[in-house]
Amino acid sequence: MSGKIRLSKSSISQAEKEAVLNVLSKEYLGMGEEVNIFENKIKDYLQTEMDVVCVNTGTSALHLSLSALDIKEGDEVLVPSLTYVASFQAISAAGAKPVPCEVNPDTLFLDAEDARKKITENTKAIMPVHYASSSKGMNSVYELAADYKLRVVEDAAQAFGCKRDGKLI
Ligand SMILES: Cc1ncc(COP(=O)(O)O)c(C=O)c1O
Repeated sequence: MSGKIRLSKSSISQAEKEAVLNVLSKEYLGMGEEVNIFENKIKDYLQTEMDVVCVNTGTSALHLSLSALDIKEGDEVLVPSLTYVASFQAISAAGAKPVPCEVNPDTLFLDAEDARKKITENTKAIMPVHYASSSKGMNSVYELAADYKLRVVEDAAQAFGCKRDGKLI
């Protein structure tokens, strides 16, 4: 490792390793009871009445959310330019066009005023990203969405366990 600085290091406990080995030892890698248990635990943790559905990646979650809203070819989705590449990829995967918007330099959150300027007749949704857990600016995004009847898909991949106005995101 001399001369190299590791970018990140995952922290995986013995209990987690054993849980994975336990599933592997069942020799069935389709949907198992662990998924259901996990979904229920997350539902309890988030204290939500909404259904919790787990998928294989954050990218899939965003892609499915857009498809569920019938976002398709010819549609435009507003997205902050400062984000992980998956936000853009999920919009493209749904067949729609990602439209990059500025972020507020103080909060790193999507700048709703810049987003307003980029709205066209094809704009169907806006995808605010809780970049590095930031959510300061979400109220302006929902106001903009209400003004133009846009659907909102929150990308909260970087905000699990964080709170906005006292509620878990
Ligand atoms: C903001 C954001 N959105 C989406 C994703 C995509 O998640 P995944 O890598 O699980 O597809 C990430 C991953 O780091 C992310 O940071």
